[in-house]
Amino acid sequence: GTPFFHYADGHLRVEGLALADLAREHGTPLFVYSQAALLAALGAYQRALQGRAALICYAVKANPNLALLQTLVQAGCGLDIVSGGELQRALHSGVAPERIVFSGVGKTRAEMRQALQAGIGCFNVESLPEIEVLNLEALSLGRQAPLSLRVNPDVDARTHPYISTGLKSNKFGIAHTEALGAYRRAASLPGLRIVGIDCHIGSQITDSAPYLDALERVLDLVAALQAAGIALEHLDLGGGLGITYLDECPPAADALFAAVLQRMEARGFGNLKLLLEPGRSLVGNAGVCLTEALYLKPGLAKNFLIVDAGMNDLPRPALYQAYHAIVPLQLRPAQAVQCYEVVGPVCESGDWIGHDRLLAVQPGDWLAVCSAGAYCTSMASNYNSRGRAAEVLVSGSNARLIRRRETLADQLGPELGL
Ligand code: LLP
Repeated sequence: GTPFFHYADGHLRVEGLALADLAREHGTPLFVYSQAALLAALGAYQRALQGRAALICYAVKANPNLALLQTLVQAGCGLDIVSGGELQRALHSGVAPERIVFSGVGKTRAEMRQALQAGIGCFNVESLPEIEVLNLEALSLGRQAPLSLRVNPDVDARTHPYISTGLKSNKFGIAHTEALGAYRRAASLPGLRIVGIDCHIGSQITDSAPYLDALERVLDLVAALQAAGIALEHLDLGGGLGITYLDECPPAADALFAAVLQRMEARGFGNLKLLLEPGRSLVGNAGVCLTEALYLKPGLAKNFLIVDAGMNDLPRPALYQAYHAIVPLQLRPAQAVQCYEVVGPVCESGDWIGHDRLLAVQPGDWLAVCSAGAYCTSMASNYNSRGRAAEVLVSGSNARLIRRRETLADQLGPELGL
């Protein structure tokens, strides 16, 4: 448990409310976020960066819900986007456009134009051909595009191979060895204005070492660029800080980024503005997914607990074999505990939420799938024509519906039939 999600008298609560009351009112599956948890996670970053030239650009992809973006923006965040869709959400959130950074290996010309017209703060460019295209698009609009090059520091973030991005075998970034040449090229183009350098080495990182290694390698480049007469305004270290799903012990954001700032200063780059792009570490443990136990199905090899949330709502177990804790909203006597394979209703054997979970549960009980604030709703689908779940944001004893449950009309809207 966390101080924001805790049991009282055998019932799981979020801040000042019983989660069961929210499940009853809004139905399940239901994502519930704690605003206090969100702001506490952000606070750890803000403590480290206080008094320094710095900007926290929340990675919208982790959870793009508009109310969450508004909450983070009002608390001082900029935003990291990766598509025209995320740009529109960001602009809708009220963020100052110059506090938006645009990441991603495959920006289209149309997306570049929209972002140029909006006046975003920085394009995080990932390849030589993208440099050329961005220059042309900026010139055609009579503008200069603010640019940072994403360099690939070739460090091993020691995380799941699908979410590790800093190795030279990945599609991301420009090789360390080619970065200087790429900056020289960018500096020669009239449609570009070099403002920074960035990297992002992976996600769910639970160790400080890869961060500090990446920082050293990027600072080597900053020094080489300076010697070549190319001055930078900021260094963007990306996102990636992990959270506790089971027993992981990631470094605290305040300790980690205080160490980062200290290294920057020690190497004479104390004046370089530090940008960060955290996603998971801000929202991941601020959200749970409530689900109803539909059936207990004893099997020959395993006992199945079939719940009403599936891989379309919670895709991380199926995609990454990810672990999410599953806990009951109502504690029952311990002698009722059984070992379950917790599965969803979707017609795939890969539709599982948890393996070998010890739970005391009866049909009709509600459960919370924990650590569901990041990369769950943002990767959700309509598979099996299931509507996306509703979402609620809690602050104290106030609950606000921030996304209604999708209806079939929402799904059929774009279809034209025969
Ligand atoms: N910046 C860039 C350039 C990124 O590619 C990402 C995430 C972030 C920031 C935010 O990283 P975070 O702080 O959230 O780790 N779907 C996977 C995670 C994919 C992460 C993709 N990039 C999962 O569910 O684990």
